[in-house]
Order: sequence, then C-alpha cells, then structure tokens
Amino acid sequence: MQGKIDMTQAAIQQAAAILKAADSACVLSGAGVSKESGVPTFRDAQEGLWAKYDPTELATPNAYRKNPKLVWDWYEFRRGMVADVKPNPGHIALAALEKHFSPFPIITQNVDDLHEQAGSTSVTHLHGNIAGHKCFHDCHGKPTRVDIRTLEFDPDDGPPECPHCGRKSLRADVVWFGEMLPEDDLAYAMHVCAESDVIIVVGTSGLVTPAASLPRLTKEGGGKVIEVNPDYSMITRIADVKLEGPSGDMLPKLVAAMG
Ligand code: OAD
Repeated sequence: MQGKIDMTQAAIQQAAAILKAADSACVLSGAGVSKESGVPTFRDAQEGLWAKYDPTELATPNAYRKNPKLVWDWYEFRRGMVADVKPNPGHIALAALEKHFSPFPIITQNVDDLHEQAGSTSVTHLHGNIAGHKCFHDCHGKPTRVDIRTLEFDPDDGPPECPHCGRKSLRADVVWFGEMLPEDDLAYAMHVCAESDVIIVVGTSGLVTPAASLPRLTKEGGGKVIEVNPDYSMITRIADVKLEGPSGDMLPKLVAAMG
C-alpha cells in the first residue's frame, strides 16, 4: 500500500514537472471525468451505459429512423440525468489549470456542460451537447438547431415537430455512431493537439476515433502525454506519465503540485 502511494506521489510530481516546463497544454476528456458527478460512463463493465443498452438501437441514424420515439425518450432520459449534476473536483482542478496556461483548450467527448460549469472557458464538444436539439433532416442547413423551450409539445409523444419543416424530426444535438464529427471543431482539436507541448488525457477508454487519435498527434509533434485514469486504456501505451486513480482525486493533487 505504501509502495503504491509513493508511486502515485512520484507520478504526480513527474506530471507537474512536465507541465511546468511546457509553454502550451490542452486536455482530452471523456466520460470518466464526469463519473464522480454521477454521470455513468459508457463502457464500465457493470454500470456503463453500453453494458445496459445496445448503442445500435439508440445511438445511430438508423435507430432513429426505425424507432424515433425510443431514441427520443432515451436522450430525454439522459438529458434529465445530467440536468442537475454538478462539477466534481476533477472538473474544478482542470479549470484551475487555466491560471498556468492561456489558452488552455479542453477538447471533450462529453455531452454534458460540467467543464463550463466548473469555469473552463475554452471547451470544444466533439460529440455535441445533450441539452441542445436539431432537426434530423437538417432541413435549414447543417446543423438546423432548434430551441425546444420555444415550442409546445407533449414530451411523451416522441420527437416534436421541427418548426421549419413540420416533420416530427427533432433529436438531441449529439453525434451518433456513423455520423461525422463537426468539421470545424475536429480541425481545431487536431490543430491544438498537434501544437501542444503536453496533453492531459482524462477519463477516456480511447476506443472511439477520431477523438482517440488526438493524443498521438501531440506525441508526433514532440509533446508529452499525461494520462489520468484508474484503469488501463488505449492511451496508456503512449502515456509518458500515468496518474492511476479517479480524476477527482488525482487532478486536485496535480494542481497542488503545480504550486
Ligand atoms: P468510456 O466509457 O469508453 O470510458 C470511460 C473511461 O473512464 C474508462 O477508461 C474508465 O477507466 C475511466 N474512468 C472511470 N472512472 C473514472 C474516474 N473516476 N476518473 C477518471 N477516469 C475514470 O467513455 P469515453 O472514452 O468517453 O460517444 O467514450 C467515448 C465515446 O464513446 C463517448 O463520447 C460516446 C461513446 O459511445 C458517442 O456517443 C458518440
């Protein structure tokens, strides 16, 4: 036990030294950073969303075509789940790192807004925003975003009508399997990651591309990778330092070590 504590402490000091020597840094975050706020991850063996639900039935354009009400209801359920959650010490520590780097871009795969709530000012959502909505057909250009607070509809009656084309085609403003990521956001993320001296990769399994490929761009540009994750991930093999523990515990310690 003492040996593990010493190793963790050494890794924190090593990560802090890498950050102190860097002129630029960025973050790639995934579901793990929001877990301690009460938002389930996707691939935890027991509690992960994809352990309980089939993504092909819920998170693809075909699933929506086949059963729009089921997909609508599932995203409304998840929207409700994140509506009341609060940032945890991991989000707050990342926001505190803005003191050391300006800008400090956070590229997130998460569809919640917990980084923003914690005070981070440069957050790019590669997989969209679960609080937002758009027309499935993008009838007024890509994306056709709609503020559903301005609409009257029965939330139990499946997707509301799009106010532009009149079809019952509203959906969550997120990226589904088989869909392209927002082009400009992805291009920005690739640029930031390639140019950064350090990337902190927090709470992602590194299984979903193109987000999972971003840390490699930092490496190829001569930068370093700091990973924060209690478990092994696809990022671990390229990490220069690994903080092996929950981000709500590791990141505040890293911020403290930065001074
Ligand atoms: P995953 O569920 O695939 O991975 C979550 C990661 O967080 C795992 O590596 C866990 O070990 C780690 N983890 C768990 N608890 C943690 C904690 N307290 N602190 C830090 N890390 C912790 O989630 P993502 O990698 O984000 O895409 O998944 C990527 C994408 O796959 C998602 O954006 C979503 C999903 O399908 C779409 O919906 C398009």
